[in-house]
Amino acid sequence: SQMGKKESIEDTARVLGRFYDGIEFRGFAQSDVEELADKAGVPVWNGLTDMWHPTQMLADALTVQENFNYDIKSLKFVFFGDLKNNMGRSLMVMCAKLGMNFVGCGPKDCWMDEELIKTCEQIAAENGCTVKCTEDVKEAATDADVIYTDVWVSMGEPDEVWAQRIKQLEPYRVTTEIMAMAKSTAIFLHCLPAFHDTNTTTGADIAKRFGVTEMEVEDDVFESKQSKVFDEAENRMHTIKAVMYATLQ
Ligand code: NVA
Repeated sequence: SQMGKKESIEDTARVLGRFYDGIEFRGFAQSDVEELADKAGVPVWNGLTDMWHPTQMLADALTVQENFNYDIKSLKFVFFGDLKNNMGRSLMVMCAKLGMNFVGCGPKDCWMDEELIKTCEQIAAENGCTVKCTEDVKEAATDADVIYTDVWVSMGEPDEVWAQRIKQLEPYRVTTEIMAMAKSTAIFLHCLPAFHDTNTTTGADIAKRFGVTEMEVEDDVFESKQSKVFDEAENRMHTIKAVMYATLQ
């Protein structure tokens, strides 16, 4: 749409609010979804911004519950890669709120901001769990219950970022070695889309330009029994229905 470009967010919100019973926003600026919610007069669901991905959290929490007998307190939940993106930030909050021990593993340059880490440490303390970031892959992966990763370049980021991210994040690719360090009952999750092969135009282009055929996760991990990514994807549908049901009364 022309949101913010040829039509202000406020005007767009007032038009869409007349047409629809609810609006799911999937875009970039967090401030846009907040203004939309403020002005639309109907429920607005955050389907992803550059800062947060709350609806994904519901699907992820449900998937973890289903795989650990609905007893998720104190599980070790590890996110590898670009910690500062919407997924790393949201997962850290989710874990702190639900009592899971969150470990973010990636290069220091890609950590979330100090303030968010501090806030999550406080929330975690109230819920009997911990939050930490590390560059040490072995420390992070050892005895993990959940291993999670996400694309190295998020929506809206420029193409030029690829070269730098590949260099920074290659040591944090989720490999079979990493999975072997985790508990034998560990599961692998990914919010998708995942670059685990070259069957996409971007994947093929990256392979051509940088000689990298698997990015944030090895194909063997993605396709393994431990991988629950398609259960997780299905759970997006069930949890979104629940959110709509809860908010469209
Ligand atoms: N961090 C990713 C999540 C995709 C669901 C992105 O923003 O592109």
